[in-house]
Amino acid sequence: MREGQSKVILRADYQPPAYWIDTVELAFDLDPGKTRVLNRMKVRRNPDVTAQPLRLDGEELNLARVLVNGQGTSFKLEDSQLVLENLPEGHEPFDLEIFTTCAPAKNTKLMGLYVSNDSFFTQCEAEGFRRITYFLDRPDVMASYTVTLRADKARYPVLLSNGNLVEQGALEDGRHFAKWVDPFRKPSYLFALVAGQLVCREQRIAARNGKEHLLQVYVRPGDLDKTEHAMNSLMASVAWDEARFKLPLDLERFMIVATSDFNMGAMENKGLNIFNTKYVLANQATATDTDYSNIESVVGHEYFHNWTGNRVTCRDWFQLSLKEGLTVFRDQEFSQDLAGADSARAVKRIEDVRVLRTAQFPEDAGPMAHPVRPDQYLEINNFYTVTVYEKGAEVVRMMQTLVGREGFAKGMSLYFERHDGHAVTCDDFVQAIADANPESPLAQKLDQFKRWYSQAGTPRLKAAGHFDPVSGIYSLALSQSCAPTPGQAEKLPFVIPIALGLLDANGNELTTGMHVLTDATETLTFPGLTAAPVPSLLRGFSAPVVLDYLYTDTELLTLLAHDADPFNRWEAGQRLATQRALGHIRNESVAPADIRLDHAFIEAMRVILRSDKLDAAFKELVLTLPAETYIAEQLDVVDPQRIHAVREAMREQLAQALFSDWAWAFEAHSENGAYSPDAVSSGRRALAGLALTHLCLAARSSGDSVWPGKALQRFKDASNMTDRFNALAALVTSGHALAAQALQRFHAMFKDEALVLDKWFALQAGAPDRGGNILPVVKQLMNHADFTLRNPNRARSVIFSYCSGNPGAFHRADAAGYVYWSDRVIELDTVNPQVAARLARALDRWKKLAEPLRGAAREAIARVAAKPDLSNDVREVVSRALA
Ligand code: PHE
Ligand code: ZN
Repeated sequence: MREGQSKVILRADYQPPAYWIDTVELAFDLDPGKTRVLNRMKVRRNPDVTAQPLRLDGEELNLARVLVNGQGTSFKLEDSQLVLENLPEGHEPFDLEIFTTCAPAKNTKLMGLYVSNDSFFTQCEAEGFRRITYFLDRPDVMASYTVTLRADKARYPVLLSNGNLVEQGALEDGRHFAKWVDPFRKPSYLFALVAGQLVCREQRIAARNGKEHLLQVYVRPGDLDKTEHAMNSLMASVAWDEARFKLPLDLERFMIVATSDFNMGAMENKGLNIFNTKYVLANQATATDTDYSNIESVVGHEYFHNWTGNRVTCRDWFQLSLKEGLTVFRDQEFSQDLAGADSARAVKRIEDVRVLRTAQFPEDAGPMAHPVRPDQYLEINNFYTVTVYEKGAEVVRMMQTLVGREGFAKGMSLYFERHDGHAVTCDDFVQAIADANPESPLAQKLDQFKRWYSQAGTPRLKAAGHFDPVSGIYSLALSQSCAPTPGQAEKLPFVIPIALGLLDANGNELTTGMHVLTDATETLTFPGLTAAPVPSLLRGFSAPVVLDYLYTDTELLTLLAHDADPFNRWEAGQRLATQRALGHIRNESVAPADIRLDHAFIEAMRVILRSDKLDAAFKELVLTLPAETYIAEQLDVVDPQRIHAVREAMREQLAQALFSDWAWAFEAHSENGAYSPDAVSSGRRALAGLALTHLCLAARSSGDSVWPGKALQRFKDASNMTDRFNALAALVTSGHALAAQALQRFHAMFKDEALVLDKWFALQAGAPDRGGNILPVVKQLMNHADFTLRNPNRARSVIFSYCSGNPGAFHRADAAGYVYWSDRVIELDTVNPQVAARLARALDRWKKLAEPLRGAAREAIARVAAKPDLSNDVREVVSRALA
């Protein structure tokens, strides 16, 4: 039997809680099979709400005892709530004591209290605390927590919870205890405990005001040599938040703990962040540059939540982007600031926009489209989305653009002045930024700006230029629109900040500016020109919109070669490539193998690759063709196999046409100095890796085995994981015969490194399909001794890499990919509904598929939907897909 509510929750139905919980004293007797939880609360009626019974949330708990002011009391269990009707009258606090047990070892959902590698962990966001004890499990109920942990000392030597350790000692029978007090009130979703055999790296730091703090990173014994980067990232985060926003660390002790079983990336529990090992553990032998940079941004993200999320939290879960959009914005800014040089900042910006456009734009155009502040949900776990996170961050970024960097910092100060210690809404945040900047376009168009929170869908910005040689006036006609999304037929105009410049035909900058578009249509005029300029629009991606401007190749080549805005330089290259890909995809009379790329495009790419002014990291971004999923979004009807074939053919052409340039790039960017994950070095490795891939691809058609041989040699000799993995990937993606032995060797080398094995699985499940070979490989991988469905990272490395990360292989004409998908969704749902629901979204865009794929995909989704007893998580995703 499934527990929990199964009705849609509406934002409009928000009611303040009928009771407050002021203090919570929790005592745990930790045992994997049966953990006993004593929960003593001080509760009082909320005087602003009419008297009603107390309804506490609880899931999969065994209730042993309920006492009110020390006396037994009557209670009811309804659905998943404990209902208490005979409570003391009046508004005085009363004691409520609840004794329950739960079974952490059986908890495969990884929500609430669970066991991983014989250690205990908790995950409470969004609604996991109710799986630990009965509670008002909602973010607007903030309480002070005191937590006592008791467990066997030999088996669980480390006992952690939020706040400060105030007492610890031995108990009888080889047990021991630790008592923690959190000095800050918090919502239940920020509660955490950890118990197990862990070791830690420690660092003492002094804050600006001279106060000392203890920073700790806890991992399993044996992983200590992989914690330096996480600790450095944490120290950098503390320093950055003080410097940029004057936000200090407010705790004596700040802990990070890593676990290999985790549904998401990491969790910002007050003072006790719990992380997926993927975002903590790194050394040069096991982690790639991408891992290093992800760790930096996730450590930053969780640390920044301490203010944006914890000190000021969300009133209800519809406000999730209040903390997530803002905190993603903050971690993006942090990473940019750490990257240093302007060109390195631009690289980070391009990477962020690439995520937005390949993942969020499709979400916004599909069945799960929802506003940044959603209006309804069946299962809140389904709304930890790229829309709430990444689009939410873009909305905050636009605010900063509209009020300026200093104005934004002022707005943040006002936000904390007003709301510190409270649970608030997205409106409260925008209001604070606007009030601190009353003259800004944000303040002047406040209500309209808020449509970014209420209207789903990606706006389209149309621009068309016209030059009148007689008057010397260039006019730019702008118009905006937004397609309907589920439940929202009509959209009103958005506030769209458009950073722009005009270039002359030689690429010289004529004018630079910022226009804030608020009407549906507007025309801008630029007098005093002698010839039609080339417009560089939406510089730095100043708004999360699709820009429709019919650029000619000549214009794009000018922008690619000269634009002062690096983002738009990259964007011009992407447009050149996208136009070519779309042309070849649509022209079905030409087989992919016969596609010919034009000289102008190839030469432009060569010039970028050979430039002595551009950074390697930037070159790598320009020379990487747009993702298959990004190309798919530009089409009304999608044949994923054809997209894949065309993109691969384009890559092979670039490989051959630029052969000697790639060879130069590889040699010139390969070095054997000491490893450092900084922006410049990692950019050089990225470009060398891309070069090697192309050199192996070129060898594919020529039959030459010099470069595959070199790739194998590099794979063997590499002194860091980035170079080693890139070499392996070059062999695997080019389908060379040497790939097999390299894969085998890689497995043997890293058989005890779970995160590296994840890469090994993912690389094979995500490899280009040649004659339908990948699905059988994926099925074999699932039979591998190292595979398990229970570990989310491992499940993702095989199943998601195939279903979501490998469209050319997944969308098989025989629909076997879809059958495999539906089997896995159903299977995973019984183990871990959150992970299952993420997988369920792999077919979000099924309506765009060409027949017969479309019909087959529908059938597969219907097959999942027909399963009785689905979790709310999966049910919501599949029923929206079919609607
Ligand atoms: N709040 C976490 C983060 O963004 C994400 C998360 C959500 C983790 C739900 C676990 C469960 O930083
Ligand atoms: Zn977050």
